[in-house]
Amino acid sequence: MRIRPLSCVVAAFLFVGLMMPGTAGVFAAGQTPIPLSALSPQAQQSPPKRAPDIFYVPTPQDVVDTMLKLARVTKDDVVYDLGCGDGRIVVTAAQVYGARGVGIDIDPQRVKESRENVAKAGVGNLVTIVEGDLFTTPIRDATVVTLYLLPSLNQKLIPKLTNELRSGARVVSQSFDMGPDWPPDQQVEVEGRNVYLWTIPKK
Ligand SMILES: C[S@@+](CC[C@H](N)C(=O)[O-])C[C@H]1O[C@@H](n2cnc3c(N)ncnc32)[C@H](O)[C@@H]1O
Repeated sequence: MRIRPLSCVVAAFLFVGLMMPGTAGVFAAGQTPIPLSALSPQAQQSPPKRAPDIFYVPTPQDVVDTMLKLARVTKDDVVYDLGCGDGRIVVTAAQVYGARGVGIDIDPQRVKESRENVAKAGVGNLVTIVEGDLFTTPIRDATVVTLYLLPSLNQKLIPKLTNELRSGARVVSQSFDMGPDWPPDQQVEVEGRNVYLWTIPKK
């Protein structure tokens, strides 16, 4: 879990500065305005539009590989990672399988990192990173959805997954299942973690 106290302070200053009428920059201690252009690109990032439902913790690469294998990803798939972090799942799906991907994250810093990783990996023709809320961003195009959230968030997502995804779409989640109402079709263990698979039934 990464905590960025400096970013929070800068974001708070930005918020206050921008909310003050006639303020072109940011007021730091001593009331000296610092022009926005003087801040590092990282500090200029806007804060999330609302607090993320869970902090960023990356999935280890071996677990990413297992998730994509369990979902039987191929080049014909469109993989959505809901809460994509640094984009590693959609980048791997594109690099290894040639799959298209969409990563969604509410945190602008994660979106920035994901877009940089997509560019570095040279998969910009296959992967799109969206800044948005995973609960409200449409996922109808997905044939595979990957999750590393929390049990309560997985359960809150069940209506969205079952309504929006087509029959045969696969959902994989690492560490957390969907609760007693939607047992997984398959489950494997890797690096001491469980990875779960569900398939959307015929509608
Ligand atoms: C545990 S991390 C998982 C990152 C990535 N999927 C992985 O497995 O490496 C959860 C991510 O969800 C994002 N997140 C939390 N709440 C969100 C929301 N409501 N909408 C979109 N993203 C969200 C966080 O910013 C964080 O990057």
